[in-house]
Amino acid sequence: MLSRKTEDYLEAIYDEIKEKGYVRVKALAERLKVKPPSVSEMLSRLHSQGYVIYRKRSGITLTLEGEKIAKSIRARHDIFEKFLKIIGVPDEIAGKDACILEHHLDKKTIAQFKAFVEFAEQKENKQFSKAFREFCRKKRETNPPS
Ligand code: FE2
Repeated sequence: MLSRKTEDYLEAIYDEIKEKGYVRVKALAERLKVKPPSVSEMLSRLHSQGYVIYRKRSGITLTLEGEKIAKSIRARHDIFEKFLKIIGVPDEIAGKDACILEHHLDKKTIAQFKAFVEFAEQKENKQFSKAFREFCRKKRETNPPS
């Protein structure tokens, strides 16, 4: 199993490429909230592990293997973000917490989260999500969070 750090880097590189078409050390440092020298060091490590192609003063790209992993982490992130929004977690928290949930969970657990999201998104089940959010709203009214 890859470390959370490795997965976070591959996901961040993938997202940068998707959003801008290229990756810079500075942008990765900002996204991952670390210092640029730490990014360079990690990129060299990911390069030697075969996940990234990184040479100083030229571009940063993912290898096929790196891209495969990044895509699967991104897919997991999307499942958890959707799940958290369905259960009423505010958007800005859902994105942040999805980045925590996307690591370390068993594949079977993730598959069930995915199935739940698909279930909740079906038209005939929208009522279910609505009822749940209504339930939460009433609960907050009678029992505000401390
Ligand atoms: Fe993430």
